Amino acid sequence: METTPAVDLAKAEAEVDLPEIGDRSRYNALMEVIRNRVTVRKFDPDYVVPEEHYDMIMEAARHGPSGANAQPWQFIVVKEADKKAKMADYFVAEQRFRAKAKMKFPTPDYRGLATAPGFVVVCSDMRWVNAFPILNDGSDLDARYKENAERILLQSVAAATMSAHLAAASLGYTVWWVTAIGQEEAQKELRPLLGIPEEISVLDIFLFGPPASAPYKRWRRPIEEILHQDTYNTDHFMSDEDMAEWIKTRRHRVMFKDASKID
Ligand SMILES: Cc1cc2nc3c(=O)[nH]c(=O)nc-3n(C[C@H](O)[C@H](O)[C@H](O)COP(=O)(O)O)c2cc1C
Repeated sequence: METTPAVDLAKAEAEVDLPEIGDRSRYNALMEVIRNRVTVRKFDPDYVVPEEHYDMIMEAARHGPSGANAQPWQFIVVKEADKKAKMADYFVAEQRFRAKAKMKFPTPDYRGLATAPGFVVVCSDMRWVNAFPILNDGSDLDARYKENAERILLQSVAAATMSAHLAAASLGYTVWWVTAIGQEEAQKELRPLLGIPEEISVLDIFLFGPPASAPYKRWRRPIEEILHQDTYNTDHFMSDEDMAEWIKTRRHRVMFKDASKID
């Protein structure tokens, strides 16, 4: 019997297959996936991800758009339990540090990293900023463009990562996006564990699997709060005080509560 390969690479490379403008069938299928992509922070520890699912998910990442089509991403699939546990330990310790430093950020429980069935470390080589518009002459102007170039790089990696998250969601998995971005300490800790060269930075960890308990949908801003027509509508503009208040009173609720339980 003929079997369909999980990923048809030849087709993927050769064809652009657009539906009729306005044909809802693919939109509806995509929205089904987008609406039901949810974060959980603890997965079924006994589940083993079939090999072809990694291929299918990473194939989605590979097709992400990127600045200058640099495709500045690398993905490390981690299967060794010991490595997962060590990374979980790192994040748990980092939370303690943040609490001590009084960051007041609501603390997710990072122990769930240790038993996440799907575990992918998302990396980039930050030298890819050189592929974007910069001067590289050490001037102030160069510094401003470099800042922008770094944003281009991060947006590119996020675009591919999001494709991977959606592919995982389309296969029925719940997901978890953990950011390790920035701090050199994180890089120093994580690089040796995975044999990552010094030039490469760990940006995120992408976890997926069946959830350990029923997931819930988180609150979303209504469309009128985020959508503008021709000019920026300041009706929903937040003052510094509004924002501080939101962070103080709402952030923890929208992060950890079911949308139906939030007014
Ligand atoms: C860029 C980015 C960084 C995130 N970083 C973390 C993180 O470090 N730790 C964490 O527990 N969740 C992290 N999340 C997950 C968010 O908390 C989650 O997406 C958000 O609460 C909305 O919930 P939902 O994914 O179920 O829609 C991150 C998500 C994104 C997109």
